Amino acid sequence: MKVGITGADGTIGTVLRNGLSGQHELTSFTLEANQELGSTKMDLSKSAEVVGKFSGLDALIHLAADPSPDAPWESVQPNNIEATYNAFNECRRAGVGKIIFASTNHTQHGDTLLTTTETLDPSKNKILSLSDPTNPDSLYAVSKLFGENLGKYFSEKYGIQFVGLRIGWVVKGNDPTIMQDTPSEDYMRAMYLSHRDCVHAFKRALEVDKKYLLAYAISNNSRKVFELTETIAALDFHPVDDAETFF
Ligand SMILES: NC(=O)c1ccc[n+]([C@@H]2O[C@H](COP(=O)([O-])OP(=O)(O)OC[C@H]3O[C@@H](n4cnc5c(N)ncnc54)[C@H](O)[C@@H]3O)[C@@H](O)[C@H]2O)c1
Repeated sequence: MKVGITGADGTIGTVLRNGLSGQHELTSFTLEANQELGSTKMDLSKSAEVVGKFSGLDALIHLAADPSPDAPWESVQPNNIEATYNAFNECRRAGVGKIIFASTNHTQHGDTLLTTTETLDPSKNKILSLSDPTNPDSLYAVSKLFGENLGKYFSEKYGIQFVGLRIGWVVKGNDPTIMQDTPSEDYMRAMYLSHRDCVHAFKRALEVDKKYLLAYAISNNSRKVFELTETIAALDFHPVDDAETFF
């Protein structure tokens, strides 16, 4: 497939470029010019810069965003909301058949939260499933719910296939112990997504033939708080790593 990746020079973009390049013809889109990647530069928050860029693509993996759960509205509005609308709308205009959207665990993290955005309250002992109501913990999470709903609307209205992945926690060096002895250690142990499981999730999202699908993208963590049964069945996603083996 001809697959475009926005935010291709970021943490997950780098993992996916390395992991998917043998199987798909990838086109990288970046905010800043990147000669090494041979990427197409554009600011997705500016609709005029997006027009015409997705012609010929079969699918778009939309990663570009401000990924911080502490992002203020001044960043969330252009980089997560307007950029997502511009990306999806250009897919519609260009006839791109599928969108894979980087959503987040934070859309439901309000139910497991302790005191800050990246801590767990183990006493809540909560196991969440995709059918549970959302409980966004931040403007960032609200922006990801906007993307999930915009994807639903575009799938119904324009027939574009949509997969929203509620991603756990991917780190550059693939090592979850960087959070050891910090307030976020429990959260990492629950939400860790290894690089190979991340590639597997996006690979399956590209292959699956569904009009609209929400799925979790976390590793098979012993301490997970997301129920994976539904995702395994719908996406045929079988994560093999477990954060506990690193600690
Ligand atoms: N890393 C994680 O653990 C994690 C977890 C859940 C969801 N996500 C989501 O996955 C995606 C990628 O995350 P990441 O960790 O690779 O983040 P990252 O910050 O490394 O990459 C994001 C990329 O988006 C680009 N970008 C931002 N605003 C843009 C704009 N207006 N126009 C064009 N490009 C723009 C940035 O330049 C950057 O390259 C994000 O949408 C993030 O919210 C990440």
